[in-house]
Amino acid sequence: MQKILILSLSLAIFLVFACGGNQYPSGARVYKATCANCHLDDGAGLGALIPPLANSDYLIKHRDQLACIVRYGLADTILVNGIRYQEQMAGIPNLSEVQITNVLNYIGSNWGNKVPAFRLEEVRASLQSCNSLPTQDTKTKQ
Ligand code: HEC
Repeated sequence: MQKILILSLSLAIFLVFACGGNQYPSGARVYKATCANCHLDDGAGLGALIPPLANSDYLIKHRDQLACIVRYGLADTILVNGIRYQEQMAGIPNLSEVQITNVLNYIGSNWGNKVPAFRLEEVRASLQSCNSLPTQDTKTKQ
C-alpha cells in the first residue's frame, strides 16, 4: 500500500515538472526554442518592432493564417491590438505540422489568449492554402 502511495506521489510530481504546469509542454518547448528570442518568454513582444502574442487579437482574427505565418513568415503591415507593426518575420520551415499545432496551442491558451484549440487536421489544411494568402512573401508590397 505504502509503495503504491509513494509511486503515485512521485508520478504526480514527475508530471507536474514534465508539464511545466501548462497544458502544452511540447508547444512550450518549441516556443522557447524558436519564438521566445523575438516574442519573449511572456509573449510581450518588443516595443514597436515585435508584436505581442500575449492578449493578441490578431490570433483570433487571423486564425487560418497562423500556421502559414509560422512556416513561411510574414512581411506585411499588420495591426495587433490596434497598434501597427511592419517588421518582417522570417518563416521557420523546419517545424513539423505537429510542432506548429503544439506551439499554436501553447500561445493560444496562454497570456490571456483564449483561442479554441487547433487540431492537426486544421493546421494541415491551413498549410495547404498558404500560397493564396495575400500576406505571404509580400516584402515588396507597399
Ligand atoms: C526573428 C524574430 C521573430 C521570431 C523568431 C518569430 N517571430 Fe513572430 N513575428 C515577428 C515579427 C517582426 C512579426 C510582425 C510581422 C509583420 O508585421 O509582418 C511577427 C508576427 C507574428 C504573429 C502575428 C502577430 C501577433 O503578434 O499576433 C504571430 C502569430 C507570430 N509572429 C508567431 C510566432 C511564432 C509562433 C514564432 C515561433 C514559431 C515566431 N512568431 C517567431 C518576429 C519573430
